Amino acid sequence: MEREIITTADGSTTIQIKDWQEQYHSKHGAIQEAYHVFIHSGLDLYKNQTIDILEIGFGTGLNALITLIEFQKRNLKVNYTGVEAYPVSNDELAQLNYLEQLNAQALENNFRVMHASPWEEVVALTPDFNLKKEQKLFKDIDVINAFDLVYFDAFGARVQPELWTVEIFQIMFNAVKSGGYLVTYAAKGSVRRAMLEVGFLVERLPGPPGKREMLRAKKP
Ligand SMILES: C[S@@+](CC[C@H](N)C(=O)[O-])C[C@H]1O[C@@H](n2cnc3c(N)ncnc32)[C@H](O)[C@@H]1O
Repeated sequence: MEREIITTADGSTTIQIKDWQEQYHSKHGAIQEAYHVFIHSGLDLYKNQTIDILEIGFGTGLNALITLIEFQKRNLKVNYTGVEAYPVSNDELAQLNYLEQLNAQALENNFRVMHASPWEEVVALTPDFNLKKEQKLFKDIDVINAFDLVYFDAFGARVQPELWTVEIFQIMFNAVKSGGYLVTYAAKGSVRRAMLEVGFLVERLPGPPGKREMLRAKKP
């Protein structure tokens, strides 16, 4: 499918899949959305502890980069697992402007290592931030009680409805520790109902710019 780098409303870039008219991030602001949904509605629930994070759709690494920028302010140690079946190409990565937009040029080497690091291996990006990328389909995740927080960042249900089903949320529910959370930009009723059906407690929260609501699910 044809892909293109576009600039979103906050000046940060993202990848657009032209045939689907779908982006890796919100057109209203890629960085703004990532901060709102994953950091302020997710990571901010934690401080002074070790946290195991699962990202559903590692993609450009923007969420991992922002987590890397933010984790020390909360005195966290992070074990970050990013699952991705279809890695972004080096050519596309070179066209993204996240380091400049986040004023994080000091992390240039970390961002490079993040993408260059081998799949299926734990790599210490810093002494307190471990990254493991796993190249596989979401439906093949089979861990139990392993994660405190899931960044659920799949493409929208409009284009990949099979990723917003009871089957997938059952896999997420199994993967999350008791008391852990899943956050996503989505707010559709069918998505909320699928989360409820597998046993999550689900809150509607204010959405990022351009979206009225988003969802946060907790495993009791
Ligand atoms: C919305 S994008 C993720 C954006 C990413 N979090 C970022 O910050 O760049 C969705 C990602 O899911 C990946 N993907 C799509 N279907 C998948 C599947 N069935 N299993 C694993 N990854 C998949 C895509 O390749 C894409 O990278």
